[in-house]
Amino acid sequence: MRRAPLALGALILAAGFTLTACGSDDEPELKVEGAFIPEPASGDMAAGFFVVHNSGGADTLTSVSSPLSKQVTLHSTKGGVMKEQKSFAVPADGALDFERGGNHLMFENVAQKPKEGDKVSVELHFAKAGTVKVAFPVKAATYNPTSHASH
Ligand code: CU
Repeated sequence: MRRAPLALGALILAAGFTLTACGSDDEPELKVEGAFIPEPASGDMAAGFFVVHNSGGADTLTSVSSPLSKQVTLHSTKGGVMKEQKSFAVPADGALDFERGGNHLMFENVAQKPKEGDKVSVELHFAKAGTVKVAFPVKAATYNPTSHASH
């Protein structure tokens, strides 16, 4: 890890240069919508869904934390196969979807079983935009909003 400080310095320098050169055009403009947690039927796990709308530059969702669980993991689902991911890209002028049947959060070993009507405080950590705090309402186990409109 002797190289870490050097690499970090270069990164900060690069970021500073980008800001000077491009103004605020590259900054992500994030808005989290449609967040919910379906009430888990049983067990000590819960899933979470939401959509990140971005009207600015690209960003990355790097981690998620919540008082509900010390271990919140990020999962993708492709062809019915679930896989843990370290991060998710938030495209510039696009959206990152965490929807049923697709990407989802996993709250493992939950502190207490979430019940319909509860609100769960969740912090989404982004590489550029920093931390975005969202209150996830707990919905019925079968709740599934119709896919959000165009983007
Ligand atoms: Cu999963």
